[in-house]
This record gives sequence, structure tokens and C-alpha cells, in this order.
Amino acid sequence: MRDRLAHRNSEISSFHVMELLRRAKELESQGKEVIHMEIGEPDFNTPQTVINAGIVHLKTGNVKYTPAAGLPGLRQKIATFYKTRYGVSINWQQVFITPGASGAFLLAFGTSLNPNEELLMSDPCYPCNNNFAALFGAKCKNIPVDGNTNYQLTANLIKKHWSSTTKGALIASPSNPTGTLISAEELEQTIKTVNSLGGCFFSDEIYHGLVYDQTATTALAFSDNVFVINSFSKYFGMTGWRIGWLIVPEEFIEATEKLAQNIYISTSTQSQYAALASFDVDTIAELEFRRTEFAARRDFLYDKLIKLGFKIDIKPDGAFYIYANCEKFTDDSYQFAVDLLESKAVAITPGIDFGHHKANIMLRFSYTTSIDNLTIGIKRLERFINE
Ligand SMILES: Cc1ncc(COP(=O)(O)O)c(C=O)c1O
Repeated sequence: MRDRLAHRNSEISSFHVMELLRRAKELESQGKEVIHMEIGEPDFNTPQTVINAGIVHLKTGNVKYTPAAGLPGLRQKIATFYKTRYGVSINWQQVFITPGASGAFLLAFGTSLNPNEELLMSDPCYPCNNNFAALFGAKCKNIPVDGNTNYQLTANLIKKHWSSTTKGALIASPSNPTGTLISAEELEQTIKTVNSLGGCFFSDEIYHGLVYDQTATTALAFSDNVFVINSFSKYFGMTGWRIGWLIVPEEFIEATEKLAQNIYISTSTQSQYAALASFDVDTIAELEFRRTEFAARRDFLYDKLIKLGFKIDIKPDGAFYIYANCEKFTDDSYQFAVDLLESKAVAITPGIDFGHHKANIMLRFSYTTSIDNLTIGIKRLERFINE
């Protein structure tokens, strides 16, 4: 019989944490109070100012398609945001509104990657990147990184791993799962290196805004010839609205527009109108307040994990994750996560969801829950370890 599933499906991996999440929900339906430290979305709701803007638009009833690239007003606001937040000037026509950063990846990879071309990324990294590339028949080369390079690719690593089939490199700073940043100097060098090799540079900046001690630098500060992927999901608290953006080099504008028209016609109209309020002074004030709350949670969780005996090479400075080495307790972090959930109702994400490099001794803890919940979670974790 002919195989009806396309071959590429075997290239697509699933999230192990989804199985843990399913089990967590099952435990909750049995009345257990699960502490969620596995979730990659803010526990804060969408800011009220943004919800109101969405409702106002819905009430007009004029919820039709927008241009494929997005509302010009929103694209212009994003361009202005780059000027005010980073001091960088961009042409607003390089900005595309997308269904989340996920949609931005589809456009960026769809317009640039040919089958069998290779993309350099770190290991560990956000796992969907590999799967997006696989959809277009491209291959990812995941380069093992550790605390010595802030869990980031460097210009030297890119040069070392570049081959005749390499098409580009992807940096995510702050990184998921490690929360660590690439320095401005290294970012500049990596961009220069990729540009000099004639490749495409992708910068996933979805956790910009959620940075606590330093400031994150956008790739656009160093070159126009980069793809920047960003989103309203994380800092702006709009995960479920499915809206993000992509900034493309000028030569990609036409191709990106064509692909957007075909893949999804336009991003959700009410979400775009809601997002227009994201840059209002009141909204930003609320988001900045949340950022300080995340910073306090990070400090709390980091100290507690270190005291319990987890090893954390670098104190993460962004996103809402801590990637901790658990080799003192286990060499099977997946089983550790399963047992912790079953016996103490604490959900965390095992390293295997982010790659292969030392994945069996790494765990990702999210601080997308209150300090009260983190306190309960840590107490349970302590009991689990000591039993
Ligand atoms: C590093 C990274 N990039 C991209 C995404 C996709 O986010 P969204 O499609 O919600 O914007 C995520 C989601 O967790 C992420 O962690």
C-alpha cells in the first residue's frame, strides 16, 4: 500500500512536555493541585488596554481581511518602536504582521531555504525551529553550546560549522530554554560572519522586553540584511491572539508578501487592532511592572535551585526560564520530570525537548507562576529529592 503520510512527517518531532501537560491536567481533574513550572507563556492576562482596543474594533463589525502584510498603521507603529526602543531606523514596509513568531518563521524560512540546505542553530534551542526548517526540506545543524558561550552560537562556531550547503544561522536571544543573551559584540560578529559568507541571518527576538539586568540588542542595530522574528506573545502578553511580526531584508519584501497572501491571507484582524494599543504609554507601564515581577521570580527561583544542588552555569538574564543541570540527582531528566509530576504534582520540562546536548541531565524551570506557587513547588521538589 502506498504510504499516505508524507515522508516529511518523520522529520517532525513532538514535544515531550505535551505528554507531561496531559498528565498534569489528568491529575488536576482528579483534584490534585499541580504547580506548573513547565509552561512557556506568561501567567498575566493580556493588558486591559489591549483587550479594550480589540473589543472596540469587534463592535464595529468590520472584521474583514486586512492586507496580507498587516495593517499599515501597526507596521508603522512597530517601525517607530524600533526607533524609540533601540534607536534603529527601519522602513515600515520591511515589517510583516504574522500569526505569532511561528507564522514569522514560516515566512522567513519559506522565502529563504531550499530543500537540503542547512541552517545552523544552537543545541539546546527552541525545538519548533528544526521542524519549521524540515517543512521546507531544509536541514538543521544543531551545534552543542554551553555556559562558555552563554549557550549561544558565536562567530567562531559559525565559521567552523559552515559548509557548502549552509544557508544561514539562527540566534535566539534571550534563549529558550536557557534565558541567556548573546552580547552585543558577539551578535555583531555573528551577523558580519554570516553576511560575509553570503548567508541569511535569523534573529529570534521574541523574549526581548523580558530582560532584567542588561539590555538586549536587536540584530537590526548592526545590519539591514537580517531577518528579525518577534511577537506580541511574551512581553506583550498576547499568546492566544496569535500575532507577531517579521522584519525582512528589502530584497525579500515581495516574496514575503506573496507567501503571506497564500499561506494565511492575513493575520487575525481583531488581534491586529488590539495590538495597536500595545505601544500606548499605559500598556507599556503595565508591561514594565510585570517585567519587575518576573525579575523577582527569577531571583527567587535561581537562589532556591542553587541551594537545592542544581547547577546553573550562568544566571539567566531574560525570558522566564532557568535551565538547570540535575546530574547530582539523576542522569535521566525525563524520568525525573515524570516522577516529580506523579509523586509531587510539580510539572517541569525535560532537556530532551530542546535538543540532544546533555539533554539527559538538564531540566527547564519556567517562572510563569507566582512566587507563592514557586514556593510550594520548591518545597515539593526538595521533599522529592530528599526522599
Ligand atoms: C524562542 C521562541 N520562538 C518562537 C516562539 C513562538 O511563539 P509565538 O508563535 O506564540 O509568537 C516561542 C514560543 O514559545 C519561543 O519560545
